[in-house]
Amino acid sequence: MTIPRNGLTILGPALALALCMSNYVCSSKAQIKPEAFHRLVGGDQVDLYTLKNSNGLEAKITNYGGIVVSLLVPDKNGKLTDVVLGYDDLCDYLANTPYFGCIVGRYGNRIGKAKFTLGGVDYHLVANNGENSLHGGRQGFDKVVWKAERVNTGDGPALKLTYTSKDWEEGFPGNLSCTVTYTLTNKNCLKIEYAAETDKPTVVNLTHHSYFNLKDDGASDILGHELMIKASKFTPVDQGLIPTGELRAVAGTPFDFNKPTAIGARVGNDDEQLKFGRGYDHNWVLDRQGKDLELVATVYEPATGILMEVRTTEPGLQFYCGNFLDGTNKGKCGIVYQHRTGFCLETQHFPDSPNHPDFPSTELKPGEKYTSTTAYCFSTK
Ligand code: GLA
Repeated sequence: MTIPRNGLTILGPALALALCMSNYVCSSKAQIKPEAFHRLVGGDQVDLYTLKNSNGLEAKITNYGGIVVSLLVPDKNGKLTDVVLGYDDLCDYLANTPYFGCIVGRYGNRIGKAKFTLGGVDYHLVANNGENSLHGGRQGFDKVVWKAERVNTGDGPALKLTYTSKDWEEGFPGNLSCTVTYTLTNKNCLKIEYAAETDKPTVVNLTHHSYFNLKDDGASDILGHELMIKASKFTPVDQGLIPTGELRAVAGTPFDFNKPTAIGARVGNDDEQLKFGRGYDHNWVLDRQGKDLELVATVYEPATGILMEVRTTEPGLQFYCGNFLDGTNKGKCGIVYQHRTGFCLETQHFPDSPNHPDFPSTELKPGEKYTSTTAYCFSTK
């Protein structure tokens, strides 16, 4: 069956969903059928790819938006647990997704007033979040079909995805050729390597948007997860979630996660920044030693014993605790995702950097190569 690119907009939600009805019934949390993803979208073939490492960990990834559909890791009793939220049918992703598991680009997070100036030229983007641009615009990298190729990087099974974003796509300058390689390493990490090149000066900020739940497939909230972020500062925002430009010390605020702390311990505090974000939805300025892959955050869930470590080459980390999840998304195995049943740790350059010359630059020029690496690593304790 062929679904027009951006099927929802063209067909309307009811028709898109009717066309997409499949007979798939979720029989086990670990099983998602490739048939539910084997479809043509806008003439491009979409599929579901399974990566399995030597320890039995398994990731299912679709080349539509580069979405990580499931990620099975063992809990402290050795039982495989799916630690990401999402859908078991491509059609649900086409109809409505709050960026479950996808690649985000060309610019992850917000650009204020959907505009920026580069080399003296003003660029106007598509505003898709009030007056701001969010996650690349209306049709960002999460809503395009990537070319997929299975590769073996030496670290474990891998999937290489490529996509060329055209000059002026969503208002961004330059043809941008992008590669995103997912490897499920034999050291139990989901490693994501991003690379991009442009033919005109542009801005790039690629990230990954998995909603993690280390407990129960998203059936209950993540407030008991213990989070550590190695950062002594964060970037406070205005009411539209655009950084004010200040780098504020976390010490003495609910934003201090230098010692592992339950996500829910202070999320309800009377704090202006928490009000603006409706909870945590902010960028932390990571305390880094250098430019290599470094451990920057950990999350631990006592009930399952699952520990997730985040390593990255990026200077920032957006911690979003699922504040906009509201019970309208029925996910895998029929689980309805309620408020704060998933959290995202989006490694990145800071939001709105193109309008903040003091922030680390997101500019990419012809002849340069953008690279970024992040690994989500799993163990138990
Ligand atoms: C990011 C943003 C949030 C929200 C989610 C998607 O994490 O910072 O404000 O838009 O994506 O719902």
